Amino acid sequence: MQRFYIGLMSGTSLDGVDAVLVSIDDDLIQHISATTRPMPGELRREILEMIASPQTIDLDRLGMLDSRLGKLFGQTALDLLTGTHTKPDEIHAIGSHGQTLWHRPALPTSFTMQLGDPNVIAEVTGITTVADFRRRDMAAGGQGAPLVPAFHRAYLRQAHEARVVLNLGGMANISLLPSDADHDVTGFDTGPGNVLLDLHALRHLDRPCDHAGEWGASGHIDQNLLDRMLTDPYFMAQPPKSTGREYFNEAWLQRQLAAGPELAPADIQATLTELTARSVTDAIHAHSSKCDRMLVCGGGVHNKHLMRRLSALLAPATVESTETYGIAPDWVEATAFAWLADRTLKGFPGNLPSVTGARHPVILGAIYPGASYSA
Ligand SMILES: Nc1ncnc2c1ncn2[C@@H]1O[C@H](COP(=O)(O)OP(=O)(O)OP(=O)(O)O)[C@@H](O)[C@H]1O
Ligand SMILES: [Mg+2]
Repeated sequence: MQRFYIGLMSGTSLDGVDAVLVSIDDDLIQHISATTRPMPGELRREILEMIASPQTIDLDRLGMLDSRLGKLFGQTALDLLTGTHTKPDEIHAIGSHGQTLWHRPALPTSFTMQLGDPNVIAEVTGITTVADFRRRDMAAGGQGAPLVPAFHRAYLRQAHEARVVLNLGGMANISLLPSDADHDVTGFDTGPGNVLLDLHALRHLDRPCDHAGEWGASGHIDQNLLDRMLTDPYFMAQPPKSTGREYFNEAWLQRQLAAGPELAPADIQATLTELTARSVTDAIHAHSSKCDRMLVCGGGVHNKHLMRRLSALLAPATVESTETYGIAPDWVEATAFAWLADRTLKGFPGNLPSVTGARHPVILGAIYPGASYSA
């Protein structure tokens, strides 16, 4: 039976809230429309301040941020409805990932914190909202991330070739999709995607990102800085593993730069671009016996220089956008959370224990009923 879903995603880049409207009919998923509501500057500043000094977080600020983000997510879903002349009661459910504030899978008592109160989303939109996907996987002993490899497996796996799906968000994560369906799909966060590139572009160019990677392409890679960064224990750690801004952030970047001689800003950008490309391709070489094709999604697909470096380092494998396979690269993550909401409402597990390290498959998330909810 065909049903309409909205998927909502705001990632570690903090660039904006992505919303997609899709129809799901058993195994068929169709993209109908999508929009992004930019993250308001004051909310972005608030989140970045909290991440930069977690020990000073005020509970009132934290609670209000949760509600304000819930309202923002709800409004982004309403934008999509207005733009497509769709009524809330035509939507079966919203799947909302939430905004990760803090992700700590390696603590003795692990936890992960996504904000954007789903009660507020359900109230603002009147639509049943499925959210809080990560914590059930973590409760089952998993990393709680990445969750998108299950979606990649469902829609981008091919019997005749070994594929890797790379999502270049603030962080980068890969899904290794072997051609043989009997082999497990694996995947993990490889480390920074765009986050360090954005930080450095903001500091030196006063721009939110290195548009098309042109600045990075104009510099020269500093091999010492690259080698130093690549010795970070995160890159050496065995999967399952996942990371976020609580690890790869401004302080991490400044520590790496301070450990060597001063470099030209464009050379630093070239080296940071190479770090993303190398950490992704080194991980693929280390953990995938074969890769014929890599499909790339996430905002980093627009960084042409980064895409060229990935192609060069992964040759002879082909590197291309998921667009070629019918899924627009900017909407893959949000679509995955619409799909995960459908799985939860149907009572199907959404995690892949071979990816997250969970003890078993689990039905993810919690359901916040909307006006026309029925069990
Ligand atoms: N034209 C462009 N040129 C270079 N980089 C771009 C361009 N457009 C987007 N980007 C990069 O993509 C980023 C946004 O990507 P995306 O929305 O996929 O990340 P995200 O929100 O962090 O998602 P997630 O972490 O969940 O994967 C921007 O911060 C920017 O670095
Ligand atoms: Mg984004």
